[in-house]
Amino acid sequence: MNLTRRKFDALIIGAGGAGLRAALQLSNGDAKVAVVSKVFPTRSHTVAAQGGVNAALANVLPDSWHWHMFDTVKGSDYLGDQDAIEYMCRAASKVVYELDHFGVPFSRLDNGNIYQRAFGGQSQNFGQTQAARTCAAADRTGHAILHSLYQQNLRARTHFFDEYFAVDLLRDEQGFVLGALAFEILTGEPIVIEAKTTLIATGGAGQLFRTTTNALINTGDGMAMALRAGVPLEDMEFVQFHPTGIAGRGMLITEGARGEGGYLINSEGERFMERYAPRAKDLASRDVVSRSIATEVREGRGCGRNADHVLLDLRHLGADTIMQRLPGIRETSMTFLGVDPIEAPIPVFPTCHYSMGGIPTNRFGQVVAPVKDTPEDPVPGLYAAGEAACVSVHGANRLGGNSLLDILVFGRAAANHILEYLRENHYHRPLDETAVEQAMARLTRWDRKDPGDGSAEQVEPLKRELRKVMEDHCSVFRTDEVMREGVEKVRALRERLDHAVIADHSATFNTARVEAMELENLMDCAIATIRSALGREESRGAHSRIDFPERDDQHWLKHSLYSLADDSLDYKPVRTQPNTVPSFPPKERVY
Ligand code: FUM
Repeated sequence: MNLTRRKFDALIIGAGGAGLRAALQLSNGDAKVAVVSKVFPTRSHTVAAQGGVNAALANVLPDSWHWHMFDTVKGSDYLGDQDAIEYMCRAASKVVYELDHFGVPFSRLDNGNIYQRAFGGQSQNFGQTQAARTCAAADRTGHAILHSLYQQNLRARTHFFDEYFAVDLLRDEQGFVLGALAFEILTGEPIVIEAKTTLIATGGAGQLFRTTTNALINTGDGMAMALRAGVPLEDMEFVQFHPTGIAGRGMLITEGARGEGGYLINSEGERFMERYAPRAKDLASRDVVSRSIATEVREGRGCGRNADHVLLDLRHLGADTIMQRLPGIRETSMTFLGVDPIEAPIPVFPTCHYSMGGIPTNRFGQVVAPVKDTPEDPVPGLYAAGEAACVSVHGANRLGGNSLLDILVFGRAAANHILEYLRENHYHRPLDETAVEQAMARLTRWDRKDPGDGSAEQVEPLKRELRKVMEDHCSVFRTDEVMREGVEKVRALRERLDHAVIADHSATFNTARVEAMELENLMDCAIATIRSALGREESRGAHSRIDFPERDDQHWLKHSLYSLADDSLDYKPVRTQPNTVPSFPPKERVY
């Protein structure tokens, strides 16, 4: 096919924290790197991360990476892979000090050290007392990190394809991934980017739900690309609902607000978290706090005219603390609610926030997929990092502050492994033109016109319906019956998407085409999520089944794997053995 073609050592799809951290490591390692991003890099969703990044620096209270590891394993409801968790917690201090040297403007203590705040699920001494482990740049930590990483990449001469949309991976008959087809959103011009290695760092799929903290761009593009390339997705049933989204709208009010001392109250003015988590209270892990809020509302103790939310009270923190430590959420609350948290509590309710599941990788960022019945064989040339990946350090529930850490640690680790791979693989393998043609067919399918017989569907209403279905059928509390109905509804929507057309083929056509392809990606992620959730007959972490209320380690201490080609579910064991310390065996999880 006569298409524009470029060749690189490494192609990185996505320019959030994971992609940019990997790109920087690669460019500094003298690799020729391309970053493809559908938005200008500093608009990637990492920019929205508020509260901070976890590392046991012990700047505020005594701390240790081993306590951090314990908290993360417990927070994951024992589904996290302990070798990866150990690696992440050990590497945390190093990656945070690297950021400091890259120019990230962290908030400071009076002695000049990096400021650290308390976050949910953190403890000292393996569960004894609250820790303060989250390194913060006020409540705009992601913004500070993303901008610094971008600037460092400019200095390292990383090549950016800004506002290019990646359509599909190019995989050959032997299973090697050899790059991707993308197109320039402005012109619609397709481009084949050949690469010896490809890293998917496209973030999560938070747009699956109607109420979400996630940006419009979080449409699971990389996850869906992996599915279509024959890679199953791991643990997609585990979707995190952040306890404190702005009620009814979803925007994030950072956990840092509770870390600074804010607390939740119900319609009776009661600090209800004392009943659900007597020790950690408002700083229990997110799944626990979200369920508690949902339960308060279900049992009639919700606030407001419709009794459909609770309140986050920060007034006692005082104006100085709020303006110094939480300026961003004050602005958000005033902008979207007209509520100044210095004077009044903020109405909040759980909101979709994070995909714990994703593309299965090992701790070197290599994508691992079943080849010849072994679930751990790497897919040659393919890597993933960040929220798009499932390494799995978050298991069934992620701790706040571990997401920024994950993207930094595993973006960097994947890049280091890619550099090793490149040392042994000097040449580009020949591209399989059939793969290019298939990817082009996905792109040109949206050129078709409305047949005019009334059968045409539109993208936007289908997206709205999908997000409503997911919210109604696969939210904080789940049952077999409700999810089964949800699966059928998602399937029906996917069929209708086959009949969708883009109404306006004029100047807006390429953005419309992006939205259409994003919806295709969301549909694939939706079916992976709800099918995996229906399959798991227990309650663990963020997956809470009313019909199976207990955790069942005997049958379900395993990761799910959803494959698109045959719409099937499989399972693989949890990696319970760390490398340098004894394993943390499953225990009852109380906060
Ligand atoms: O609440 C927050 O600031 C979110 C942090 C996170 O998801 O890690």
